[in-house]
Amino acid sequence: MDAALSLDPTALRTLLHELAMEARTHRFEVAPNPCVGAAVLGRGRVVSRGWHRVWGGPHAEIDALNAARDSAQHDGGVPPEEWEAIVVTLEPCSSVGKTGSCTQAVLDSGIRHVVVGAVDPDARHRGHGLELLEEAGAAVYTLPGAAPLESASPHYLRWSSFDRVRRPRPWIIAKWAQTLSGQLSPPEGEGDGRTISGPESLAAVHQLRSRCDAILTGMGTVLADDPQLNVREPGDTSSQPARIVLDSSLRLSPNARIFHAEPAGGPVYVLTQMGPDPVRLRALTDAGATVVPVRGADRQHLELRDVHTWMWEAGFRRVLLEAGPEMLEAHLNAGFVDQIQVVTGNVRGGVGPSLGSFLVPERLRERRDSERGNDAVLEAFWVAPG
Ligand SMILES: NC(=O)c1ccc[n+]([C@@H]2O[C@H](COP(=O)([O-])OP(=O)(O)OC[C@H]3O[C@@H](n4cnc5c(N)ncnc54)[C@H](OP(=O)(O)O)[C@@H]3O)[C@@H](O)[C@H]2O)c1
Repeated sequence: MDAALSLDPTALRTLLHELAMEARTHRFEVAPNPCVGAAVLGRGRVVSRGWHRVWGGPHAEIDALNAARDSAQHDGGVPPEEWEAIVVTLEPCSSVGKTGSCTQAVLDSGIRHVVVGAVDPDARHRGHGLELLEEAGAAVYTLPGAAPLESASPHYLRWSSFDRVRRPRPWIIAKWAQTLSGQLSPPEGEGDGRTISGPESLAAVHQLRSRCDAILTGMGTVLADDPQLNVREPGDTSSQPARIVLDSSLRLSPNARIFHAEPAGGPVYVLTQMGPDPVRLRALTDAGATVVPVRGADRQHLELRDVHTWMWEAGFRRVLLEAGPEMLEAHLNAGFVDQIQVVTGNVRGGVGPSLGSFLVPERLRERRDSERGNDAVLEAFWVAPG
């Protein structure tokens, strides 16, 4: 390790471990991105810490650099010319995605020492960020084992696995509300026939939607609830995800609220069987939808593998599955769910099947239980059998 670094390797390992553990607390907000923490060092101490906190938000390096800049404005802060190093739990990204490249941001900051806890396992990025830093004259140190992805971000290892990269499909977050008995529709006459969760959870849905690329639903939900599927406050209304409806026989009405959402939602895609009825197709196109024919399965429903391949090719990476029990069950059975958020509202009884058999410990990873108003919220990464 370069003598120019005033923190010794043991202190750096401890710092990397702390950053990785804190980064994990944001796992359900950033997935499928990895959980990453970073710190800026100067004058022999930690100047600032930062994390990747939400999908689409600043990466950890940017968060830490911003915090370092803020602290430099205050008494006792360390000015940028005295920043010695940046410590980051995972190799900085080198590609420009939803945010700029972190390798460039590090170089622009003037920092010339980079301490890295793990190399990116994704074959498309592996080592590339480190090479760019070194080519630009930065000294790079790796401290493997201090922040291993196996404990910091196991979901990212699944996301970047050979099999997933070979047959890519979006990261699916299945969200549903259930009654105390586990049913997805309230008893007749309660909650407008559809609402199970409390106001805090209904508000949180809008934040979750605004942090996804698309919302995927089934025709059963559209017919029953006529949802808008847009982002309303307190979500970021400037970030409206695409809305995708699986509708094998084009039953969607051009008058459905999805076409008249307030505020306007993202583009509407209707996925349907090959050879759709031309009159219905025209009516939906006129209403503003893009109709996409995909293969049918069992002459009834759409082939989910083809639906997911289409979503990937259309550029959707983080997709929220907000549907009824039929679509949810089909996705869970096919192994096309990566993350779940199940809200249990304070409602007795209910209508329809329960999905309780999918919520068994063998399927749930890194589970987090919390309360939101009167609701119980279960979040976990969901791993299919086999
Ligand atoms: N509690 C909650 O979180 C929640 C959320 C949403 C809805 N709901 C409730 O759920 C109820 C509706 O449930 P649902 O099960 O009928 O609706 P759904 O799961 O949203 O939609 C099912 C429909 O999607 C279409 N579909 C196309 N391809 C499919 C595939 N491969 N697999 C499965 N479905 C496919 C089928 O209609 P086509 O054959 O016409 O294509 C199918 O009937 C309503 O009462 C609603 O209020 C509850």
